[in-house]
Amino acid sequence: MKYYLLGKTGLKVSELCLGAMTFGQEWGWGASKDESRKIFNAYVQAGGNFIDTANKYTEGTSEKYIGEFIASDRNRFVLATKYTSNTRRGDPNAGGNHRKSMVQSLESSLERLNTDYIDLYWVHAWDHTTPIEETIRALDDMVKEGKILYAGISDAPAWIVSQANTLADLKGWTEFTALQIEYSLIERTPERELLPMAGALDIGITAWSPLGNGILTGKYNKNKDQLQQQQQRQQQQQEHHPRSESSTSSTSSSAAKESSSAAAAAAAAAAEVVEGGSSRLNMLKSMSPDMINSLLSDRNIIIAEEVSRIASEIGCSAAQVGLNWIRQQRQQRPRQPIIPIIGSRKESQIKDNLACLESELSDEQLRRLNEISKIDLGFPHDFLKSEMIRDIIYGGTYSSIYNHREQEQEH
Ligand SMILES: NC(=O)c1ccc[n+]([C@@H]2O[C@H](COP(=O)([O-])OP(=O)(O)OC[C@H]3O[C@@H](n4cnc5c(N)ncnc54)[C@H](OP(=O)(O)O)[C@@H]3O)[C@@H](O)[C@H]2O)c1
Repeated sequence: MKYYLLGKTGLKVSELCLGAMTFGQEWGWGASKDESRKIFNAYVQAGGNFIDTANKYTEGTSEKYIGEFIASDRNRFVLATKYTSNTRRGDPNAGGNHRKSMVQSLESSLERLNTDYIDLYWVHAWDHTTPIEETIRALDDMVKEGKILYAGISDAPAWIVSQANTLADLKGWTEFTALQIEYSLIERTPERELLPMAGALDIGITAWSPLGNGILTGKYNKNKDQLQQQQQRQQQQQEHHPRSESSTSSTSSSAAKESSSAAAAAAAAAAEVVEGGSSRLNMLKSMSPDMINSLLSDRNIIIAEEVSRIASEIGCSAAQVGLNWIRQQRQQRPRQPIIPIIGSRKESQIKDNLACLESELSDEQLRRLNEISKIDLGFPHDFLKSEMIRDIIYGGTYSSIYNHREQEQEH
């Protein structure tokens, strides 16, 4: 596991963050305490130090479990939690981004997490009502009191974050150090405004739902049954011809082992869906059919199928391909590493996800994934890139200008 410097700070966070939204079963699709501990232990054993939770996850259980798991080594962890979500239905002040909500929420989180400080305190979502000056001024007070060390913001428009950090810079207040966005092969719209903003302001980036709620693991693919059968056949062939395997070169033997473990991972994931029951999407089906329909859109399944094809080529799992596409964005934006917040409901899933550190996508595979998942950047980006507008601005000199800042501006 490698470590990144978070945004403008000297704080070192591991290149994979542990998402704890699945810790606890209050929402119908999480992990028991015992399983959550195993997930946590596997992450820590792999060298992870960055943990993400929120005041509202599993109605507070996630924070309680984390508090217990980190207690014996609290200072080793970069502990992040969030406020904004309402915790007392019917009370308009029991949520939102104003000072009263922040103070109350922070006190409750500190208690559940059994700690006296939070390393990174997130505004969970823009609330459309609280002036941003109030929020960042109050966060600055929390830093001065030593209750939080850094502040971050999640689920907010780029203009709000830019406004906040510009104001904080001028006033000498605490700036937002990190950004939390939904970003994956099926949700690339942050490429329009949020990622360029984070690059320009040197804000650290974390990506939530990196596997699109599990879709990119391939377990909801339309052809998953075929894929499962094909991969089981391959696995059986490996098992029935051990001699031919030992007579092959060491390279093809290790490729066979990888392909066999990829087959096992795909078969296990597909079997889990066939079993139905406890997977997140199966649970959400009855609660929010619209959300499920949009998650399982034709576009998303086509992307997930390409991810599975590439996984078979490499001999790794589809989840690892989905995570590595995010991690390898740093090839295009070297100054902007993106940290996936990995979510797992089982120990076997976290182990599978952590193993993304052992494989890599080729340029050709990245190109195929970029192509199949591409989005329109829309106005003003497409307009400004058009030949006609470039000609109006540069008078025919555009191609003769070497712009060393182009990469940061164009992505
Ligand atoms: N700021 C925000 O608004 C926001 C929103 C959402 C999440 N988050 C953060 O981001 C973290 C990750 O989000 P997420 O849980 O939605 O991430 P995700 O990776 O998109 O989905 C995780 C789910 O996919 C399935 N899965 C994961 N790995 C798998 C594997 N190797 N094989 C098969 N299935 C696998 C599991 O669900 P099943 O087994 O149930 O199918 C797992 O719970 C959360 O824990 C939270 O910390 C933040």
